[in-house]
Amino acid sequence: MSDVKIRLLTLQDWRLYKSIRLTSLEDSPDSFGSTYEHEAALSDAEWLARLDLEFRGLEALPLVAELAGHAVGLAWGVIHEPASKTAHIYQMWVSPTQRGKGIANSLLSEITAWAFHKGCERIALAVTASNEAAVRMYHSSGYLPTGSLEELRSGSALMVQPMVKRLDNTK
Ligand SMILES: CC(C)(COP(=O)(O)OP(=O)(O)OC[C@H]1O[C@@H](n2cnc3c(N)ncnc32)[C@H](O)[C@@H]1OP(=O)(O)O)[C@@H](O)C(=O)NCCC(=O)NCCS
Repeated sequence: MSDVKIRLLTLQDWRLYKSIRLTSLEDSPDSFGSTYEHEAALSDAEWLARLDLEFRGLEALPLVAELAGHAVGLAWGVIHEPASKTAHIYQMWVSPTQRGKGIANSLLSEITAWAFHKGCERIALAVTASNEAAVRMYHSSGYLPTGSLEELRSGSALMVQPMVKRLDNTK
């Protein structure tokens, strides 16, 4: 993990973002509500727009983990409404060859610190219930199941478990 660098994805990184996001969807189709087919059809302008947070008026932390200049991990923190006390995590993925080295834990820590700094009181996400590695990861990071299972996507047999981690930001 020591050689892995985590940094913010900026507008200039849209090609890198497109590449790692499509790779993640292809590698882990059961982990995400979206699909490779859907996102592979997006135009370059749409990929660029996703990272144009100012234009979108979106409070977000799109992170990439890099090893020797290669993207090996991705995660987004998002606060949907300006005054919201809830941050969300999306698109969490680590390259299969780099798993088990703490990269996802580091991405989670960055998002937690960012959400705390933004005054959030909780972080929410949804994880495929049968995805043992991810469920364990969120559990060991302090996320607890909340609410009932939901379909991963319309008509899918896979179910996702909403989870929430409380942040000590209420004082
Ligand atoms: C889930 C995923 C992001 C974990 O990434 P990672 O970099 O290997 O995770 P880390 O090495 O930082 O480990 C974090 C924690 O996850 C748990 N974990 C990770 N892999 C695990 C596995 N194969 N089995 C059980 N627990 C596992 C451990 O609890 C670990 O915490 P610890 O430090 O207390 O041991 C990665 O497996 C992945 O990209 N999976 C496919 C995409 C996905 O499922 N994304 C989640 C969408 S909600």
